[in-house]
Amino acid sequence: MHIRILGAAAGGGFPQWNCNCHNCAGLRAGTLNAVARTQSSICVSSNGQDWALLNASPDILTQIRATPALQPNRAARDSGIAAVVLMDGQVDHSTGLYMLRERGSPLPLWCADPVYEDLTRGNPILRVLEHYCGVDRHTLPLDGSEFAVAGVAGVRFSAVPLASKAAPYSPHREQSVPGDNIGLTLISDSGKRLFYAPGLGAREPHIDAIMRSVDCVMVDGTFWTDDEMVTAGFSRKTARSIGHLPQSGPGGMVEWLDSLPASTRRILIHINNTNPILDEDSAQRQTLREHGIEVAFDGMAISL
Ligand code: MLT
Ligand code: MN
Ligand code: ZN
Repeated sequence: MHIRILGAAAGGGFPQWNCNCHNCAGLRAGTLNAVARTQSSICVSSNGQDWALLNASPDILTQIRATPALQPNRAARDSGIAAVVLMDGQVDHSTGLYMLRERGSPLPLWCADPVYEDLTRGNPILRVLEHYCGVDRHTLPLDGSEFAVAGVAGVRFSAVPLASKAAPYSPHREQSVPGDNIGLTLISDSGKRLFYAPGLGAREPHIDAIMRSVDCVMVDGTFWTDDEMVTAGFSRKTARSIGHLPQSGPGGMVEWLDSLPASTRRILIHINNTNPILDEDSAQRQTLREHGIEVAFDGMAISL
C-alpha cells in the first residue's frame, strides 16, 4: 500500500497568502529552515496507478502536477484519481472538488451524511458540480466496518466518527453530529494499517484503541499550543474550540503519542502555518524528534 502526502498544511497553507507571522515571513525571506506546504490532502493506492484521494484541497491542481502518478496517459483524458473520500466538509478539504469538474463521468465520492448535507446546503459544492461532471456519492459506514472503494483495489477502508468540528458555515458547527469529522484507517492486503485523522479534537477511548492497533498514525498537527492563534493576535479562538488537539502540554498530542506502542510510527499532518514545529531548528521540533514524532511534508511517501 502506497500513501503520498499531497498537502501537509492546514487551511491557508504555508506560507499563507496574507500572513506575516514568524513562520510565513521567515519562509518568504529565506531566513527560516522550513519548506512550504500546500493544503491538506493525501492519496492511497495499492498498484500505484489507481488512487483514492483523501480530501480535495484547494491546492489540488498544484498537487497533481507535483505527483506524476496522478496524471497517467492511458487515454486522451485520464486521471489516477479513481475516487475521493472526505474526512469532513471543511473548505481546505472540499473545495478542490471544483477543480475535478472536467471529468467525463460523475466523480465517485465517499463522505458521511452530515458532510453530504453540508456540501449540498451550507456550501453547495455538490449542487454546483451537477452542472459539470456531477458526483456518484457513496455513504460511509461509521461503525468501523471495512469497506472497499471501487476502482482502488487492494486497499480497504474503515471510518469512525471523532470529536472535532464541522466547518464554520455548517448549521451544526457548534452542535457536532457523528460524521461531521471522521478518522480513516487504511488497510493493506497484507493487513498493515495506517490511521489518518487530520482534524482530531479530543482523546476518546475508541480513537485511542484504534491508534494503539495500527502500524502508523498520521494525526492532527495543527497547533502546538491551545492559544497559538490568540497569542499571535490572529483569532480569539483556541485550538480545542475549533476542533484541534494541541500538541504540547498535559493532555496534548505528544503525550498521547507517547502512550502508543513503541513500534508505532507517529506522524503529524495538517500543520497550521503558525505552528513552531514547521521551523526545523525550533525547540519544539527538537522536542518532537526526541519523542520519535515526524512532521509530514508535501511529497512524503509511505509504503506499508
Ligand atoms: C480547520 O481544520 O480548522 C481548517 O483548516 C480551517 C480552514 O480551512 O480555514
Ligand atoms: Mn483544516
Ligand atoms: Zn503565518
